[in-house]
Amino acid sequence: MGKTSQADNITMSGDGLYSLATIGAKDVIDKATPRVLKAIDSIDLKSAAWQFSDMGCADGGTSLDLWRSVVRHLRSKGDQDIQVVYADQARNDFNALVKILHGLTQFKTYLDEFENVFALESGASFYTPILPANSLHLGFSATAMHWLSQKPTDIDQHVHMVGATGKDLEQFQLQAVSDWENILLQRARELVPGGKLVLINFGIDEKGQYLGNTGGINMFDNFNENWQQCVKDKIITEEEYKGMTLPQYYNNVDEFSAPLLDKNSKVYKAGLRLVDIETQVVPCPFAEDYKDHGNATKFAKAYIPTIRSWNESTFLGALSDSRPMQERIDIIENYYGLYEGQVANAPTEHGMGYVHAYMTIEKVV
Ligand SMILES: C[S@@+](CC[C@H](N)C(=O)[O-])C[C@H]1O[C@@H](n2cnc3c(N)ncnc32)[C@H](O)[C@@H]1O
Repeated sequence: MGKTSQADNITMSGDGLYSLATIGAKDVIDKATPRVLKAIDSIDLKSAAWQFSDMGCADGGTSLDLWRSVVRHLRSKGDQDIQVVYADQARNDFNALVKILHGLTQFKTYLDEFENVFALESGASFYTPILPANSLHLGFSATAMHWLSQKPTDIDQHVHMVGATGKDLEQFQLQAVSDWENILLQRARELVPGGKLVLINFGIDEKGQYLGNTGGINMFDNFNENWQQCVKDKIITEEEYKGMTLPQYYNNVDEFSAPLLDKNSKVYKAGLRLVDIETQVVPCPFAEDYKDHGNATKFAKAYIPTIRSWNESTFLGALSDSRPMQERIDIIENYYGLYEGQVANAPTEHGMGYVHAYMTIEKVV
């Protein structure tokens, strides 16, 4: 793999569909707004302009309100230029990002509400440098850094590390330690002394909860069981199933904190310190809506696109290219159709509650 490459087949839905389908991700970001404002207030600006980054921004729709709040807050105190660098992996749908940021969609951009606010788009991965050294005041990222730089192995009998055991789990853990260290070291170089990172990452909380496992059916086990059934029914091959392992890792609080607390770590030596970390659960907005409207079919229809927005590309990419594309698409459609039926049949059992670690990190002077 080259310097800027990344595990294949992990793109979000394009054309702005990502933000339309992921109301929950926006709720997660909105919850972080006070944390971001507090972090900014603690930074002593020594240059003429603020520089921020939004790493793993997808189409930028889910963080528009956060950045609107940041700019409004800063404008209440001064008129410095503000630059936000929106970064995502190069295969992201940057057309959708540009259109959303520049007001060509139904999303309400903040750029035309203020003077001297600049948005730049970057195709640099957060595993590589995104900005020049000593230039970043606050780096932000939400729901993105669980994507590993590469898949360390195919997991036996599961599609996600939450179901991995033994050697498979160990290989995922090793990859995750090295990736987390790399992300932090890249940011340590970019940050100005006194600069901050506010990172909101999927994780495993103190009760063992994680995305889609906050009560009811475990979403990842359900993905897995449905694909295993497809193998038994000879809809897909064993080899295709193996390729469906998602290149993700969910750290727990200790794993996130370790390099920031260990005085001998490279990250600590590079000047990064943990200010604080907490876990938060944001309920699945579609399951919450269902409690109000009580229509199971409507819930199932609204819920499936949020799942598809982030895992369809991996599952589709694992299907053999010896199959005609239409056959692969049919398999994927049937898979999510089956899932939709399961949700409609047992609506109170399904949902994708979000479990995140919210952390603030400082680069010491
Ligand atoms: C679930 S979306 C989150 C989007 C947005 N931050 C939010 O919270 O709604 C995850 C994003 O991370 C991006 N991503 C994955 N690996 C990345 C990498 N190495 N560098 C930058 N972005 C990455 C994906 O392309 C995707 O856009």
